[in-house]
Amino acid sequence: MSPITVDRANRVWNLTTPSTTYAVWLAAGSQLRQLYWGPRMSGEELAGIAAQQGQMPAPDILFPADAADQLPADGGLGWGVASLQVTFAGGVRSLELSLTDEHLAKEEGGCQLDLVLTDSHFPLQVVLHYLVHDDSDVIERWVTLRHTGTSDQPVQVTRADSGNWLLPELPDYRCTAVSGGWAAEAQLRRVPVPIGELTWTSRQGITSHQANPWVMIDDGTTVEDRGQVWGVALAWSGSWRVTAQRRPDGLTSVTAGFGHDGLSWTLAPGQELTTPRVLGLYSDGGFGAASRAWHRYARAHVLPHPDELRPVLYNSWEATEFDIDEAGQLELARLAADLGVELFVMDDGWFGGRVNDRAGLGDWWPNPDRFPNGLHPLADEVRRLGMQFGLWVEPEMVNPDSELYRAHPDWVLHFPHRRRDLKRNQLVLNFARTDVQEWALKWLDDLVERNRIDFLKWDMNRSFAQAGWPERAGDQDRLWIDHPRGVYAVIDQLRQRHPKLRIEGCASGGGRIDYAMLARTDEVWTSDNTDAYHRQSIQHGYSQLYPAATMAAWITDSPNAITGRCVPLAYRFHVAMAGVLGIGGDLRNWTTDELRQARALVASYKEVRATVQHGTQYRLAGEVGQGLSAVQYVHGDDVVVLVYLPHATVRRAPGTLRLAGLDPDGTYCSADGDAGEDPRGVLPAQVRTTGRVLMASGLPLYWPAVPGGDWFSAVVRLRQIR
Ligand code: DGJ
Repeated sequence: MSPITVDRANRVWNLTTPSTTYAVWLAAGSQLRQLYWGPRMSGEELAGIAAQQGQMPAPDILFPADAADQLPADGGLGWGVASLQVTFAGGVRSLELSLTDEHLAKEEGGCQLDLVLTDSHFPLQVVLHYLVHDDSDVIERWVTLRHTGTSDQPVQVTRADSGNWLLPELPDYRCTAVSGGWAAEAQLRRVPVPIGELTWTSRQGITSHQANPWVMIDDGTTVEDRGQVWGVALAWSGSWRVTAQRRPDGLTSVTAGFGHDGLSWTLAPGQELTTPRVLGLYSDGGFGAASRAWHRYARAHVLPHPDELRPVLYNSWEATEFDIDEAGQLELARLAADLGVELFVMDDGWFGGRVNDRAGLGDWWPNPDRFPNGLHPLADEVRRLGMQFGLWVEPEMVNPDSELYRAHPDWVLHFPHRRRDLKRNQLVLNFARTDVQEWALKWLDDLVERNRIDFLKWDMNRSFAQAGWPERAGDQDRLWIDHPRGVYAVIDQLRQRHPKLRIEGCASGGGRIDYAMLARTDEVWTSDNTDAYHRQSIQHGYSQLYPAATMAAWITDSPNAITGRCVPLAYRFHVAMAGVLGIGGDLRNWTTDELRQARALVASYKEVRATVQHGTQYRLAGEVGQGLSAVQYVHGDDVVVLVYLPHATVRRAPGTLRLAGLDPDGTYCSADGDAGEDPRGVLPAQVRTTGRVLMASGLPLYWPAVPGGDWFSAVVRLRQIR
């Protein structure tokens, strides 16, 4: 059966996913409303809900019911948060939309519905798009605005969200979201939704460190493994706004879209504006099941190469910062190769006059003093050592002290008669301009081609400011949309020209992580903070929406460069092993014993990485980074459990850890595990028991005392016996 069906008699569109239903209803007065979103419902049941709703009193000024609107527009009796706001000729602002057409298209693996709304007088069409995949509970929505007129009267758009989602009546509403800052990304917070409007936004031109464009709502009782969750996420890498609105009458809804308040875009006759996709997911298995559904969706519909194993990477940044030369990089490459590293990435400082952060950005040729013979000698040696070769780039930026800026001072975001404020001594190149895109694509293409680059780390280290585009003075706010789109276009074309190229997304750590970026990168740099203790909470927040195969995680030096904390090598490794393992320390200073341990831990990661990167993730009991916590991955018959106890407890042994996601009747045996420096391992004895025992009673764990008392960690591997 098609995942989208239409009940013409009751004017209901029924969007069916494997375990959920989302229904749109054309109510009297031509309002397109959300009828239902939750567990699977039959067509008859939906018709019943529509009949009941139809008997309710018509919305009026006190209860305008626009919270249920598919895209509440500024106009009519509505007074809630507008998802759509435009100004027509003569300053007319009130939209009057009604359904004029619809298209339903069955596609390979899914089905798309387009509902076309047309304004009663002005030349504007608003198309609401819905896409349902056969294999995912995530529903994709987006909107196209179309100026259908021919006169030269433009339509001014001040808000164009991708969709509005209504929550059912619940006894209470609580939202889960991540927020934070540089080096403290993705801190998970759950707070009651207050009556009023709760907005998460970025006005920075990038997704931002401060918030991430998603929210999950529950009734306040949902936990990791139980309860209903409604999630909304925006696939967009520029400025954005997500607003949860809880009205005094009880209705709660979430509207999400690109751009931030105050921007305005011009739609000229014949032009279209298409919004990014907003994704909605209902799940009834707690926050854990919701995350797994997001991860499955990412693997099936977002990631460019979901089935590839990500290589173990070495990155030179923390070791050398700007103090780079061929000999130093070669020394690091040899040490890295000896540890089992598979990809060597030279970070910032290899090009132009970039000997510090004050000069050279924009001049993308090897620094002649540091690499007198170009990058070939280093790249060739890296390959001879059996590794792939990667490079750091920051294409969207320029230092005023650069040849590029001296030649093209007009290429940066700026307003006439205003300062051009520097941040990290750099300005933002206007990627909305096609000449800037062409320039970037050309040098990136040459660089990759000439040096046979396998991997680029695409960095972006400042937010927008004084964001003007004087050549497009009448419609310069376009750059807030067209800059991210320009970045997408350059990356997409580069990848097309170089299908083997892999890309790591970065923005001073995790400043630009979202589903649009994950669609065109292979992994993302989660945070500049590599302190394993902080990393646990950052990774915990990251894992709520995004899968482990995209989460780059390095081990760096101790004491940590940012926090000064000393954490044992095994613990640092075990935390990084929860994602895509990398090493970023100055290996020249590691002791022989540390290098020996690191070699063994890299080998141990390679044994578990298929399960970690491609498996199903379960966050097990415990407050992450505080008491005992664990992350478990199941992939086919293989089970990997990463166990952490950062602080010593008096109750050391024996303990148990309840696993999840196993076959209750299956038999599981322990495979070799790795407990860092503990020669005895953390399992008191060989395990051979059923999944039921492991889930209901738990895995018995042995906690040996370690010197200093703190920082227990272990990798436990189990295998289902067939
Ligand atoms: C910020 C990144 O997050 C770091 O890893 C590093 O690449 C620096 N930029 C280089 O300038």
